[in-house]
Amino acid sequence: MKAIEIVKNIYWVGALDFQLRNFHGYRTGRGSTYNAYLIIDEKVTLIDTVKAPFAEEMLERIASVLPPSSIDQMIINHVEMDHSGSFPAIRRLCPNAQVFTSGSFGVNGLSAHYGSDNYISVKSGDTISLGVRSLTFLSTPMLHWPDNMITYCPEEQLLFSNDAFGQHLATTERFDTETELSVAMAEAKKYYANILMCYGTQVRTALDAVAKLPIKLIAPSHGILWRNHISDILKAYNRFSLNEPDRYAVVVYDSMWESTARMAVTITESFYQNGVPTVCYDLKYNHYSEIIPAVLTSRYLAVGSPTLNSQLLPSVAGFLSYLKGLTPGNREAFAFGSYGWGGQSITLIEQELEACRFHLCLRGIKIQYVPKKEQLAEITSLISEMLRSVK
Ligand code: FEO
Repeated sequence: MKAIEIVKNIYWVGALDFQLRNFHGYRTGRGSTYNAYLIIDEKVTLIDTVKAPFAEEMLERIASVLPPSSIDQMIINHVEMDHSGSFPAIRRLCPNAQVFTSGSFGVNGLSAHYGSDNYISVKSGDTISLGVRSLTFLSTPMLHWPDNMITYCPEEQLLFSNDAFGQHLATTERFDTETELSVAMAEAKKYYANILMCYGTQVRTALDAVAKLPIKLIAPSHGILWRNHISDILKAYNRFSLNEPDRYAVVVYDSMWESTARMAVTITESFYQNGVPTVCYDLKYNHYSEIIPAVLTSRYLAVGSPTLNSQLLPSVAGFLSYLKGLTPGNREAFAFGSYGWGGQSITLIEQELEACRFHLCLRGIKIQYVPKKEQLAEITSLISEMLRSVK
């Protein structure tokens, strides 16, 4: 395991997790990386660490440059354990290194996870010298924990952005210039949608601060580094954080005996025939975290479930629970589903859609047992009418 030099005397010393498929509920089909960075200067500085099971990998990469015990300073941008998990392993080797973290949330978070220590609390604007270079800290609370911060090296115009601009993507390609850009952008969108969507205001504050910095390289803590496409990822974040979705529609459902499925197909076709590009997801085959990126940029959401024992199908309930946590708001939504006798699913879906701060643009569409041709035609008319009325 070797370190990769990303800028003269600055090394990537992270870990590749090709096998990761579940990041606390987020389906990570391409695995992930945990990026840590080593700066060789008068004071040797380590920025972030890696998830605990990968501590040996990080230490070996560091050792390919110099003994890990030579580290003089550590920056912990974020306490979440995918980045701080190997802190104890490195701390044992350099017990006298200074450890910088963000404010009381950083200090308390590190103490709670790893015990008290001489953590040094920093805030936005604080700067430390490494010798030739320096590092300035920028607090980015709720991107996506209260302790998050990013670290900027002005001499290299290099932004260590931690979770911001990251992607769950395991690859031996380190830069946007080496990888398939469409894959990196799609994974960055998926990451934003699943982790940052509910923090648009905080993202905007961070983007305003970042816009004042000259940047040649963005080095996040997951995925590839942004070198040639810095403006593309900043523009994408700007667009996502505005939360002004495009004229797209997403139809999400599960079905027992294909009646709700037939309604979903009709709804999809109706949007399509009205010039609204639409994607349709059956929750039997699609994980909810794969659907959230489409919701991020879509103006319409239709959610369907039959009624099962007076409740929703569990897959639909799970999707709505996950979505509610991300509080997307600013979208038009409606419920649909078939039923046998109770028909409670529509009200339950509508309650959840309102909790997501969506506007209900149609009364829930409910069909008993099996949809008839005329009932499906009625759905088409309702959607056409709704699209004419929603500006
Ligand atoms: Fe919030 Fe990548 O951890």
